[in-house]
Amino acid sequence: MAKVAIKPAKGRLGVLTPGLGAVSTTFIAGVMLARKHGFAPIGSITQLQKIRLGKRSEGRNPLIREFVPLASLSQLEFGAWDIFPDNAYEAAMKAGVLSQEHLSLVRRELEGIKPMRAVFDPSFVKNISGPNIKKAKSKLELASQLRQDIRNFRREKRCSRLVMIWCASTERYQDEQPVHMSLAAFEKGLAESHPSISPSMIYAYAALMEGVPFANGSPQLTHEIPALVELARKKGVPVAGKDFKTGQTLVKTAVAPMLKMRMLGCRGWFSTNILGNRDGLVLDDPGSFRSKEKSKKGVLDYILQPDEYPLLYKNLFHKVRIEYYPPKNDDKEGWDNIDIFGWLGYPMQIKINFLCKDSILAAPVVLDLALFLDLAQRAGMRGIQEWLSFYFKSPMHAEGLYPEHDLSIQHMKLKNTLRYLMGERLITHLGIEYYDYWGKGKK
Ligand SMILES: NC(=O)c1ccc[n+]([C@@H]2O[C@H](COP(=O)([O-])OP(=O)(O)OC[C@H]3O[C@@H](n4cnc5c(N)ncnc54)[C@H](O)[C@@H]3O)[C@@H](O)[C@H]2O)c1
Repeated sequence: MAKVAIKPAKGRLGVLTPGLGAVSTTFIAGVMLARKHGFAPIGSITQLQKIRLGKRSEGRNPLIREFVPLASLSQLEFGAWDIFPDNAYEAAMKAGVLSQEHLSLVRRELEGIKPMRAVFDPSFVKNISGPNIKKAKSKLELASQLRQDIRNFRREKRCSRLVMIWCASTERYQDEQPVHMSLAAFEKGLAESHPSISPSMIYAYAALMEGVPFANGSPQLTHEIPALVELARKKGVPVAGKDFKTGQTLVKTAVAPMLKMRMLGCRGWFSTNILGNRDGLVLDDPGSFRSKEKSKKGVLDYILQPDEYPLLYKNLFHKVRIEYYPPKNDDKEGWDNIDIFGWLGYPMQIKINFLCKDSILAAPVVLDLALFLDLAQRAGMRGIQEWLSFYFKSPMHAEGLYPEHDLSIQHMKLKNTLRYLMGERLITHLGIEYYDYWGKGKK
């Protein structure tokens, strides 16, 4: 297979995040601690995982970062926007994820990251407000200001390439409106400050106009609207989303395929969480919670296929709750109660109690997305990057297809895409030529 032409990862890669909260500061401080003090980037596929190449007998198993030409941690520069003026050190201290002892090791570098003024609209995010906000006569002018921020950052930090990853608060739920359906309608809407154009869409528009790959870590409707998918393809920019798959949904998309693989039935799946960080405060608003609920609830229908397997899953009752509980801070606790049934319909139960740290799980996802989106752009890939579904609760997908939620299929797709890019044989796990099933002698 021919290798795809990939431009080398020369020069600095700027990672821009709308939002300088728990996830983004944990990501930034973690990269700084890894490159300066040798902390291990645990949870990062790009940094730690190996990839098998060729037949099992060949023994070729390089690290992914040595197999595909990725930017290295030392090449990364960071920039952010936030509605609060706290620098990255102050924001990380307030988020309370990493210890003061760790943050003080990279304090000077973190203090150098000061958030740019944000595009913010309280009709999309309730429960928080802050002073570090852009003012403009129209949403188009807000987009121009963001584009200027992007150009200034690129020049000041001497970056050769940029990526943008939405790590800001979850916006309220909305359905697609006519203003989202074409680029022409969207640009007219920007000029007229249409109320259905959200801040996250304005950031995504600004990024794509500047040729910057964009990923959405939150569940709201952002760049999967036809107008912005059209813009991404037109500008030759890769995009991915949405909603980082980190905690309870990560577990769900590993456990549900197991039930289906073994043809075990499921009557009910109740998932509840308590969390106390700023994300939890925003999700306490019903509009933002609805975005999250939709994203979290979709996965079981796609994995279990109740229409294909009505005997096993037709009447599955699936409920998801998120409760804001300040004493927990970033230490989220999730419970899953799963009512399953087996042979002759006999009932059984699975209980999962996941005591996780949301931002500790999300930070390596941000890193991997930044490096893989940059790789995709250098490989000339444009539009929706389905091979990055692995990282999302609601994977963006091509029109007319359904999203792939099964974690192991997503993982295989990611690795096979890397093999394809590098001209290596795809791995099907068939191994038919290896086993002598018909007693004819091995090839
Ligand atoms: N941590 C996880 O495991 C995880 C998983 C999936 C999704 N997410 C999503 O990632 C996002 C970030 O999570 P977090 O824990 O860092 O939240 P956070 O509240 O700590 O940080 C979000 C930051 O975004 C800022 N903000 C809000 N609107 C903004 C805007 N328009 N422009 C710029 N900044 C803005 C807020 O002031 C805040 O500082 C949330 O939407 C969350 O739902 C997180």
